[in-house]
Formats: sequence, structure tokens, C-alpha cells
Amino acid sequence: MGRRLLMLFPLAIFLLSSAVSASDSPSSDEENPIVISSESMDYDTNTITVREGKKLMVSCVFESDEQIHKGDLLWKQSNGHIIDGESNASLFSVVLNEKGSKHRKTSLHFTSVHTRDTGLYTCTGRTSGGENFEKTIKLIVLPAIEWNDRDTVKGALLGEPITIDCGVKGQSGKDPMIQMTNGNGEPLDEETWTIAGNEATIDSLKKEHADLYVSCITIEMHQEGNQEEFPVVDRKDVKVEVYTLPEFENEESVQYTVIDDHVRDAIVYCNVTHSFPPVRHYTFYHGDEEIKMNDKFNIFMNVGISQGAHLKIHNVDQNDLGTYKCEANNIKAKSYHTIHLREANAPAEPKVTLIEAKRHSIIWKVESIDQEPDLPVNAVEIRHLRAGTAEASGVSDEDISDSYWKSHSIFMQRNIKEDGLYEINGLRHGHEYVWRFRQINEAGFGDSVVLRAKTLNDEDLELMDSSSTVTSTLAIATIFLVRLFV
Ligand SMILES: *[C@@H]1O[C@H](CO)[C@@H](O)[C@H](O)[C@H]1NC(C)=O
Ligand SMILES: *[C@@H]1O[C@H](CO)[C@@H](O)[C@H](O)[C@H]1NC(C)=O
Repeated sequence: MGRRLLMLFPLAIFLLSSAVSASDSPSSDEENPIVISSESMDYDTNTITVREGKKLMVSCVFESDEQIHKGDLLWKQSNGHIIDGESNASLFSVVLNEKGSKHRKTSLHFTSVHTRDTGLYTCTGRTSGGENFEKTIKLIVLPAIEWNDRDTVKGALLGEPITIDCGVKGQSGKDPMIQMTNGNGEPLDEETWTIAGNEATIDSLKKEHADLYVSCITIEMHQEGNQEEFPVVDRKDVKVEVYTLPEFENEESVQYTVIDDHVRDAIVYCNVTHSFPPVRHYTFYHGDEEIKMNDKFNIFMNVGISQGAHLKIHNVDQNDLGTYKCEANNIKAKSYHTIHLREANAPAEPKVTLIEAKRHSIIWKVESIDQEPDLPVNAVEIRHLRAGTAEASGVSDEDISDSYWKSHSIFMQRNIKEDGLYEINGLRHGHEYVWRFRQINEAGFGDSVVLRAKTLNDEDLELMDSSSTVTSTLAIATIFLVRLFV
């Protein structure tokens, strides 16, 4: 029993002392106030091991209350060369006082370490009292890992196979150990991945594989002199992307335009419902002929959330009818949508009734009277301008040109409403306005109705207040019903 204790005692002392010296933080011995620290430093051997190409900073603090001049705390290379703050942009030192203490500090900076930087680096300090101290560290720069495949994003089309190669190019005969994990550091799911050597493969890519990660981890055992081997770990994360063909709601669509005496623009839509990466190029064909952009044809790409493009055909005529093809190209793949552009009738002119005039707004009822429309009416366009502005055109209200309406009126387009009631706000009280109404279907706009109507002024309101019966507001407004386009 007594013997055993005796045997164990020295072992315990050994364990205790080794535990202390194996700490991963810098410690200063009492005689030497110089303390060197760095993120990737092994404090047992005062060795820093890094991969080539990394940025590195090593700090040296003079932990003493003794005075030391700024120029007396220095970094030196093993050949005695002093590393200063100016002469070399890729290896320099910075002297300053350590945060939170008055201790002088000089840090050594490598903007990108190179294997030739391997060597000894010494921090020396000389106190005002003339005492000299120094401490040396060893820097080991290992050659950069050379992955077989350097890409960190790997993509393939839906349904196609994809392989992630975690292999590295052999260095000096040493084969590092390679591990493959998912983004959380767990082994790759073998239901998804087939693993062969250092390669992981998915046979047929599915949408749910998008954004999977594979971490390639290499562990290389490194030995310096006759010291113990230690592992140097490197890692590369590869993201999986799933490319798709540009998709459309349907393979083909039928779109309409009105062809008449008006100058009308037809729009041929090529709406994309899904594409990854997003579509970059659209090409339109009429029949087999590629459409070139000019005064007549213009291609607009959607910006924002919805993908797609449209072809605008200016001054559309009979020759523009027929079959169009839209080619959507997302760089990884192309697909096609076919559009049949057909002629349709414009909506009929609407029936318009003034429901109520107020001080600053007017409520209209706009109804479709067409019993058998070619296409359903989607929207109502309402424009108005002041009576004075209308008169300045020099023609009667119904003869005001479309371009005069465009440049002088306030424009509103509302989706068709069940009750047909539309209130137009923002009007001046007691003012007369000229109004133009027309209905819109998928193919274009229909014939117009032009009317005059006036907002109420203060006297009108007093009149209404003094009489107990509500005056019909219709009586206040003057109404002309005019057919502009016959
Ligand atoms: C700057 O320091 C680096 C790293 O030690 C060295 O390779 C390079 O030759 C030096 N450049 C000059 C101009 O001294
Ligand atoms: C295409 O999208 C636009 C909106 O961006 C829409 O107005 C149009 O009706 C759509 N056309 C077809 C044919 O889907």
C-alpha cells in the first residue's frame, strides 16, 4: 500500500506540471516580461503553424512597469534584420500601447504568409535602465492545400447527376486524411449521396437538393523535428445548386390584339413561372424569323420578383398576327414558349351614369352594355381634364385628340368592379371637367364616351342643407353623351 502511494506520487506531480505547461494561453515567466501571442500558436513549443496564403498577426507585449522606449521593442528576423513599420508592405510591425494597460506592444503582420517566411522571429526589448530581454518563436508555413476542384459552388440541371470531389493534389508523397460531412458536421446521408473514395455523387438531382452543403475536411499530420506529430486541419465547403429549365405556366398561350384605324401597340407576353438561375436572355421569333429590335419591335424584361419579358409591337397590323416563339435562356438551359397572336374586337363603348357630385369628387357608374363580348372587359380607363383646358384645345370635347388627352388629362385605370361604381377624388370644388371613359379587354381599349360634369361649390351645399329634401345631384351636372369613335 505504502509502496503504491510512493509510486503514484511522482506521476501525479508529472501530470500536474504537464497540465500547467500545456495551457493554450501565453504565460510570462517572472524574469522575462516579453509575452508573445498569436491565434494559431502552440504555447508549449512557441511554434506557429499556418497554411500559405493566410493573413497572420503575432503580438509581443512587454509586461513590465519598467520604462521602455517605443523604438526599443522590436521584431527581428533570424539574420538580425529588423522588421520596421515602413519598408515592406507585406511584412511590417506596429508599435502601440496595449489596450487596457500601459504596456508597450509591438505586433508583427504578414499580409499573406509564404512558405519562404518559415523561420525564427525574435521580439527584443531594452528597458530605459539598460536591461535586455528577448523571446523567439518559430513560424512554420505549410504549402497551401491544392484541391482537385477549387469551386465552392457546384450545380447541375434537375435530374442530372452531380459529383463533389473532395480530393486534394498529393503533396510530397503525404496523403492527407479526407472526411466528407454535411453542413452540420454530420456524415453525409447515404440515401442521398453515393460515396466512392473522396467523391460524393447524387445520381439524379432533385429540387430539394438545392442548398445542400458538403464540407471537405483534410487532416494532415505534421511533424517538426523530433517533436510530437500534430494535426493540421483544412476545410472547404461546397454548396449544391439545382438548375432548372425556364418554366412557363403552359407550353402555349393565345393572346389577342385589336386591329383597326387607331395606332395600337400589341403586347406579346412571355411570362416565366420558375427558373434557376433566373433567365438572362429572351429572344422572340415570328414564325421562324428572329425579331430584331427597331422602331416597331421592342423587348422588355421584367425587373423585380416576377420573371418574364414581353414583346411590344408598335402600330400592330394584320401582318403581325400569327405564331410567336419566345426563347428563354438562363445560361444553363433554354426553353420555349409559343404564343398565338389573334385578332379580337375591342370592347364596346360603356354606359356611363353620374351617380353623385361632391365638393372634391364625383362618383360614376360605368357599365358594359355589350351582350356578347369577344373577350371579357378587365378594366375601365377614366381620364379627366378641366373644362378650360378642354376648350384651349380649340375643338369640341368629342374631337379632342388622343395625344391631347394623353398630355393634358389625369389618367386612372381601375380593374372592373361588380357594382360598376368608381369615385374620382382630388377635384376642385365648383369646377367643370370633361371626362373620357373607355373599357379595356385583353386585346386593347374600346370606343370612348365623353361627358362634362361639375363638382359642387359652397352655395350648392348651403342650398342642399336648407332644403330638407336632397336635391338630385344629377340636375347640377350638365351631361353630354358623345360617341367619339364610331
Ligand atoms: C518583404 O517581406 C517578405 C516576407 O518576408 C519578403 O518575401 C519580401 O522579399 C520582402 N520585400 C522587400 C521589398 O523587402
Ligand atoms: C403576363 O404577366 C403580366 C404581368 O406581368 C400580365 O399582365 C399578363 O396578363 C400575363 N400574360 C399571360 C399571357 O400570362
